[in-house]
Amino acid sequence: MRKIFILALTFLLIFSFAASAEEIKIGSCIYRFNDAFMLRFRNSMSAESEKLGAKIELADGQDNQAIQNEQIDSYILEGVKVLIVNIVDRMTAQPIIDKAKTAGIPIVFINREPPLEMLNTYDKAYYVGAKAEESGTEEGELIADYFKNNPDADKNHDGKLQFIMLKGQNGHQDMILRSKYSVEAIKNAGIEPVEIASAIANWDKLQAMQIMNGFAMSIGPENIEAVIANNDEMALGAIEALKNSDYNKGDKAFYIPVVGVDANASALDAMDKGEMLGTVLNDADNQGTAAVRLALALANGTDLKSIGYEITDNKYIWIPYQKVTRGENK
Ligand code: BGC
Ligand code: CA
Repeated sequence: MRKIFILALTFLLIFSFAASAEEIKIGSCIYRFNDAFMLRFRNSMSAESEKLGAKIELADGQDNQAIQNEQIDSYILEGVKVLIVNIVDRMTAQPIIDKAKTAGIPIVFINREPPLEMLNTYDKAYYVGAKAEESGTEEGELIADYFKNNPDADKNHDGKLQFIMLKGQNGHQDMILRSKYSVEAIKNAGIEPVEIASAIANWDKLQAMQIMNGFAMSIGPENIEAVIANNDEMALGAIEALKNSDYNKGDKAFYIPVVGVDANASALDAMDKGEMLGTVLNDADNQGTAAVRLALALANGTDLKSIGYEITDNKYIWIPYQKVTRGENK
């Protein structure tokens, strides 16, 4: 009789433990599923959630803030324990933070950084990402190093660097700061940068290709000494366009150094083929892992010191960027 009782109790305990573990549900909103970098991010968050026995639901905001707002409303109605939000328009974070606060649900923003004044209105609002200026600086350094080590890179021999800038979506911190700090780093390396053209290609490969086709036509590839793209997809679009002009196909006499950010597999591929100069690792694995661990610790009320990532100013987890080249190894 006693044995049966203990057995029943054990089952009850196991069952209730499993049930409570399953109860932790993360509601996550992604600004747009059709984004190569955010795909890596999603995969990382799904893997970490599974590892920790939590359930993560992912919603596609289709690059539309109104759609994303509705998704957040339904997550709150559904009773998710925590939100992870890759906000479409980072400047409209305030009403979302207010909703989470009213519902008593912690909220972790990722990849698109809301202003600190907004984060500061809720003690359970956080941001997990990477410092945009760091990636810009590293991109600029890649170009500056190449220019210094390859005298022929100064095609018109004027000692200055004539470059084209391809930018991501307007208002994104990575668009603003990568554009600024890449040029800053070239100056700091003692080279005078000259922007011969720039355009917004919205992080998108096809748009970048079309824009670059136009620039190659109007400016002439022989007059372009570098292409600096705010991300890899746009760098790859630019490379497609340059190939249409018989540049960047392996002949060093017909080559324009192109740099991006992310270190997506397709960019590493292009670098292996000698079509692309370099990139900067945007560490989706660590950003995704950190976001999920932080979210679960907040949902469970456990010690934030135990998640394995440092939290700065009670608000931020910063994952470092890292330059990636194929240079000396080849
Ligand atoms: C990445 C881009 C991506 C964007 C989405 C950036 O950090 O570098 O590739 O499109 O985030 O918000
Ligand atoms: Ca020059």
